[in-house]
Amino acid sequence: AAVGKGNYRHFMEKELHEHPAVLGDTLRQYLDPKTLEVRLPRLPFDPARIGRLTISACGSAFLAGMVGRYWIEQLARLPVDADVASEFRYRNPPLADGGAAILISQSGETADNMAALRLLREAGQRVLSVVNVPESSMARESDGALLTVAGPEIGVASTKAFTAQLAVLACLAIGFGRARRELSTLDEGRLAQTLLEVPSHAAAILEQDAQIRELAMEVAKARDVLFLGRGAMYPIALEGALKLKEISYIHAEGYAAGEMKHGPIALIDSDVPVIALCPSGPLFEKTASNLQEAAARGGRVMAFTDAEGEAALRRFAERVIVLPRIGEFATPILYAIPVQLLAYHVAVLKGTDVDQPRNLAKSVTVE
Ligand code: AGP
Repeated sequence: AAVGKGNYRHFMEKELHEHPAVLGDTLRQYLDPKTLEVRLPRLPFDPARIGRLTISACGSAFLAGMVGRYWIEQLARLPVDADVASEFRYRNPPLADGGAAILISQSGETADNMAALRLLREAGQRVLSVVNVPESSMARESDGALLTVAGPEIGVASTKAFTAQLAVLACLAIGFGRARRELSTLDEGRLAQTLLEVPSHAAAILEQDAQIRELAMEVAKARDVLFLGRGAMYPIALEGALKLKEISYIHAEGYAAGEMKHGPIALIDSDVPVIALCPSGPLFEKTASNLQEAAARGGRVMAFTDAEGEAALRRFAERVIVLPRIGEFATPILYAIPVQLLAYHVAVLKGTDVDQPRNLAKSVTVE
C-alpha cells in the first residue's frame, strides 16, 4: 500500500514524528527490556576474534557509522576504520585476512556502497550490513544483515532511518563489548537502560517543536551556519550541517569543537550562527570553553544542552535549548532529532521543496 503523509505537511515532518516509535521498535528488536540484555542474531563474524573492523557508508549513514566507531572503540576496545564508500573503494585499503566489515544503508542500493561491499567480499572480509530495506541488494549480497525497523522513508533527507541506524549500532557496540569481555553484565544493563529511555525522551523533544521553530527563524536568515560538537556529538554536528545544506540550501559546516581554533574560528562573526551540541558529561567543560571562545569573538552561540549544562552556557550563549537529560552513551541518538527538526523548519521557512530537494535522489544508484 502507498504510504501517505497523514496529517503532516511533508513526509519529512511525518517521519520526524515517527522517531519515538521507530526507536522503540528497533531497540526492542535487539534488546530485551526485561533482562536488559542485548540479543543479536547470529553474526557473520565473531567480534571476539577480529582485530579490526571496517565501516563503510555514504552521507547520513556514514555519519551514523562515525558514531558507531566511537561507541565500538570505547565499549569493545576494537579498532574501527570508518570511511565514506566512495573513498574506501578506491583507496586500496589493506585488509587483513579474517577481517570484518559493517556496511550501513537505508536503501541498501547505494552504488558506491554496493561497490565497497563487493570489494570487501572479494578481499575475504565477512560483511554485515545494517539496512532498512530487507529485500535490498545489500541485504542479499552481505554475509548477514541487521534490519533497522524504520519503515519506509520517503523524504529524501534521512531522519528516522538515521536514528534507527544509531540504535542498531549502539546494540552492536554493547554486544561486541560483551563478546570481547570489555563490559560486565552490570555495564551492559546500565547502557541498555539508557537506550530504553531514548524513545520517551525523543517524544519529549518533539514537543519542543515551537522552541526549535523559533531558533529556525534565526537560522533561516543566515548565509552560513556552523555546527559544533565533540566526541560522538561531532558526527551529529556533521549531520546537522548536512541536513541543513540538503534541504534549506544554506551553507553549513560541522566541526569538532576542538578543531575550531585550527581554522574555522576565522569565520566567526555576528552573521554566522554557531549551533552547539553540548550535553553535560565528560566533554562538557572542553566544549563549553570552545564555545566561549566563539562568543568572545562575536559569535552567536545557540546551544542544545540539558538542565545540568544550562546555567554554564547561558552566561555567553544567545539561545539555549534544554533537552531531556540522558546517559552520555545515548546522547548522539537524542541530539540528532532537534538538529533534523531545525533543518526541517528552516527549509519550510525558506519555502524549499522539503521532501524532494533539488539535485538529490533518495537512493543514489549511480557512482
Ligand atoms: C541524508 O539525508 C541523505 N539524503 C544522504 O546522505 C543518504 O544518507 C545517503 O545517500 C545514503 O543513502 P543510503 O542510506 O540509502 O545508502
